[in-house]
Amino acid sequence: MKIFEAHPVVPVVVLDDESRAADLGRALVGGGLPIAEVTLRTPGALAAIATMARNRDLLVGAGTVLTPEQATAAAEAGARFAVCPGLSRAVVERCGMLGLPVLPGVATATEVLAAREIGLKAVKFFPAETSGGAPAVAALAAVFGDMRFVPTGGITAANAGDYLALPSVLAVGGSWMVPRSADLDRIQELIGGVRAVIAAAGR
Ligand code: 3PG
Repeated sequence: MKIFEAHPVVPVVVLDDESRAADLGRALVGGGLPIAEVTLRTPGALAAIATMARNRDLLVGAGTVLTPEQATAAAEAGARFAVCPGLSRAVVERCGMLGLPVLPGVATATEVLAAREIGLKAVKFFPAETSGGAPAVAALAAVFGDMRFVPTGGITAANAGDYLALPSVLAVGGSWMVPRSADLDRIQELIGGVRAVIAAAGR
């Protein structure tokens, strides 16, 4: 909860190899967005996490953590939090053993209930836009007043404010400011746009 309270927009990074990791980490820190969720979807992801973790000003986590083994590998690489697209008790338990904060994904009331039952107080809402967007988060929050949400999936500079306006939303995640093919100048420009979104939301 503290991680996402402190970082209302979390860049979701897909890196094909580690070569861009250090520069991208520096760009995020320099742009005032010192956090990255590096998705475990590419062969170079763990090496990229290890590279980024050497930047002490950057809080690096692992995304797309699907198995307990991946949670362990991510922690060993230096990840300081883990994000999963769905709710896996096995992954949550492993993260608990590792002392690794974990944010599992939910998209329905039944899944929020299951997350509460295993003691979670914050969940990712995924895939946010196709699961009903900000109105769906508001509807879930009306029922689960004690649960906080980190919507991710389809979020952009244009709609992030709709989510950040909700008190139940801790933060939003997204890849819109770190497109896979963009150069660093473009990424810096997009990060500037994120700062404007955060300021407009009063976060
Ligand atoms: C994730 O891993 O959370 C999503 O792939 C990020 O979604 P986006 O690319 O639509 O922002």
